[in-house]
Amino acid sequence: MAIISASKKTASRGYGNTQFRYAMTYVVITSVVLIILNIYCSGVCHKLFYQSKESSLVEKCLLASDEIATAEVLNTSTVAGIVNQLESLKVTRLVVTDRSGSALYDSGGCSAGSYVLLPEILQALTVSKDAPEGNNVFSWTYHDGVTDSRAATPIVYYGTVVGCVYMTEYDTTQGGLIKSLQLTLLRVTLLLEIIVILFSLAFSNAFSRRLNKIMTYMRTIREGDYSQKVNMGGSDELTVLGEEFNDLTERLQTSERKRSQFVSDASHELKTPLASIKLLTDSILQNDMDVDTIKEFVSDIGNEADRLNRMAAKLLSLTRAENAQVQESEIIYMAPTVRRVAKMLRVNARQSDVRFQLELDEDTPVLILEDDLYQIVFNLMENGIKYNVPGGSLTVRLSRQEDNAVLTVSDTGMGIPAEALSHIFERFYRVDKARSRQSGGSGLGLAIVRTIVQRNRGEIAVSSTVGKGTAFTVTFPAFDTEVDKT
Ligand SMILES: Nc1ncnc2c1ncn2[C@@H]1O[C@H](COP(=O)(O)OP(=O)(O)OP(=O)(O)O)[C@@H](O)[C@H]1O
Ligand SMILES: [Mg+2]
Repeated sequence: MAIISASKKTASRGYGNTQFRYAMTYVVITSVVLIILNIYCSGVCHKLFYQSKESSLVEKCLLASDEIATAEVLNTSTVAGIVNQLESLKVTRLVVTDRSGSALYDSGGCSAGSYVLLPEILQALTVSKDAPEGNNVFSWTYHDGVTDSRAATPIVYYGTVVGCVYMTEYDTTQGGLIKSLQLTLLRVTLLLEIIVILFSLAFSNAFSRRLNKIMTYMRTIREGDYSQKVNMGGSDELTVLGEEFNDLTERLQTSERKRSQFVSDASHELKTPLASIKLLTDSILQNDMDVDTIKEFVSDIGNEADRLNRMAAKLLSLTRAENAQVQESEIIYMAPTVRRVAKMLRVNARQSDVRFQLELDEDTPVLILEDDLYQIVFNLMENGIKYNVPGGSLTVRLSRQEDNAVLTVSDTGMGIPAEALSHIFERFYRVDKARSRQSGGSGLGLAIVRTIVQRNRGEIAVSSTVGKGTAFTVTFPAFDTEVDKT
């Protein structure tokens, strides 16, 4: 009991882990995807705002530069005059410098004549071989809903850089837009993540509920209740697993039924000779018998013991045949084995006045252990003698039919009634129990034959007419065609 509950615990702990791991895997994967999407979207959005700001502010700077370049003399008053006309530009700070970076105008409050050495201004005034008329410069920072843009363009007069216009713009409208976009993206991401977590938990829960169903069913089967069937519903892999399991249980149930049937049949069969022995010994012990009668009784006891012996040997042979693992087969012709069996049974045949007729010319090699073939031929020929009539005959024929080697054992005996034909391969089945018990039959011979034939990929068939005779046909794949196929 303790062991069972321990294994139950292990099973459920294993489940929880699997379920949690599944859910976590989904969550991690979707989180990574959403974070990447988030970073990408907000990057694209930044870039778009940057480009629009750059073009608008640089445009304003260029406009101012062009206007200022029209002045004949560049000094504080001419610049102030032009700048006053440019009021519609609406920038946060506007600086105009001369060639050396000294301020001619600064809306930020820097006095005229002082140097405004901002990096953008210095870069705009720098003349090089690649940029003989200076550079248009733009820089941008964004922080918490505010964009701070800076642009500087040179003032060019007949191809010469004579000064620079510098503008800055603090923008809370555009910055606010970026902030709200980022916030919306974050909210959508979080919402999606919550949905993913809920869904993965729901899915893994449903999955583990289905697994639990199979586990409960398995435990019921383990306790020995094979009648249970699991109905998984749905149409996924677990449904197939459930069906496979039902199949397996059915097989287990069948083999369990066969096993207990076998045990009860076997004990019943063993009981009969044992009861006879007990009866005979009691009679000897209780009655005053003459020596001849005692001898007769003791000989009967010996016969019963022989019968028990034969039955035990056959049971052993049947169990071996049923449980045999992959065996090393050999390529053999069947005729020598048939002759060996015939030699072995010739005394029985003579006693029963049965004549052998062997037609073994059309012999084909087959892949089988010689011992197995011997058992098949022996049991069939022994039956052919045992259930024959005095003066009858037993024919063993070897032939070939297409890709098969065929062994036919036919007799001119009593035959088997049609209703018994389907039972003769069952263990302990005998058509005429009294007669075959008398002849020492245990009803195991044909069961052994069928098991061995099937194990060797062969088939066995029987046809019979009461009063005329019986024919058993055993078919094996011919070895030469097997070689051709491989
Ligand atoms: N050639 C046959 N002719 C008529 N009846 C047969 C023939 N072969 C088998 N039978 C019937 O089938 C039954 C089962 O045969 P099987 O060989 O399995 O058992 P058995 O011969 O009775 O005993 P065992 O072979 O174990 O010593 C026999 O009892 C017999 O009634
Ligand atoms: Mg037999």
